[in-house]
Amino acid sequence: MEFEGKAVVVVGGTSGINRGIAEAFAAGGARVAVASRSEQKVADTVAALQAAGAAEAHGAAFDVRDAGAVVEGLAGFHRAMGDFDVLVSGAAGNFPALTAEMSVNAFRTVVEIDLMGTVHVMKAAHGFLRKPGASIVNISAPQAYLPYEGQAHVCAAKAGVDQITRTLALEWGREGVRINSVVPGFIEGTEGADRLAPTEEAKAGVISDIPLGRLGRAEDVAGMCLFLASEMGAYVSGQVIAVDGALYQRGSGRLGSMIGEMLRGAKG
Ligand code: HXC
Ligand code: NAP
Repeated sequence: MEFEGKAVVVVGGTSGINRGIAEAFAAGGARVAVASRSEQKVADTVAALQAAGAAEAHGAAFDVRDAGAVVEGLAGFHRAMGDFDVLVSGAAGNFPALTAEMSVNAFRTVVEIDLMGTVHVMKAAHGFLRKPGASIVNISAPQAYLPYEGQAHVCAAKAGVDQITRTLALEWGREGVRINSVVPGFIEGTEGADRLAPTEEAKAGVISDIPLGRLGRAEDVAGMCLFLASEMGAYVSGQVIAVDGALYQRGSGRLGSMIGEMLRGAKG
């Protein structure tokens, strides 16, 4: 798919799945901007986007928990690129922790990044979206609709993200803006997968749950984002779409209890 001339913003786009998404748009010739907290990760990713074929590459360092910094960062992207054709919001934090054992601040931290971060990004971007025509993708997680032990914080936050997706599809659909959530499967080589299944044995357990027989790849998720951003996705909005090799047809599977077992085991 060609994205020449399109302005694409990927928040949380400097590692893992989201960086793969940003690179896929760059390879399609888009003008791409990425943001995350680390200046170094932003600089490395901007260089990688240029190498991947981006017509332009921009970057900014900010924390999605800081609403003012998000406004400033996205305003900078708008000055550089004009109205956004595509916005991907995927900044997230996660760690395995049982609810009774984690502090209130630990729970709040994930809600602040995943849920309030999404609110900040949506609100700051609204005035900069191409209307009609913009396509927004929120990067969600299976925790939004499946329970996983040791993940109540992420479950609560990502469920909120998906409801924002559905609600803004109504509110902003009137302006010709589409919004969908993409739910990655278990994606190889990512921070998210390594935190929840840190051993080879744990990963093998997850793989044995995946009907398509392999872990996902960042490019699998990127393919869905490109589709949703293209004319082929012009009538898709308000949807939560998993790209998971059919893993979540089994519910939360082994991982649903494995994280809890790992945490209880660590306690002795
Ligand atoms: C219990 C923990 C904890 C842990 C942190 N906390 N890690 N509690 N178990 N493992 C607590 C701290 O003690 C503190 O509470 C509070 O959380 C905030 O911690 P900080 O370290 O001060 O937060 P901060 O520096 O802002 O870092 C945020 C973070 C960090 C979420 C804790 O891990 C991070 O930056 N993550 C970004 C990368 C990431 O998580 N990627 C994976 C995304 S995968 P107190 O009470 O002590 O102050 C994903 C879904 C994957 O989202 C799904 C796969 C199927
Ligand atoms: P990752 O590599 O840790 O990516 C997270 C990105 O968000 C990084 O660019 C990170 O950069 C940025 N970020 C984190 N906290 C931020 C904050 N407070 N403000 C601004 N940026 C922040 O994780 P990943 O595993 O690829 O996950 C990417 C997305 O996919 C997440 O939304 C996750 O929930 C979802 N997901 C992942 C999997 C999986 O298998 N990995 C499965 C389902 C869903 P900085 O550190 O520089 O801030």
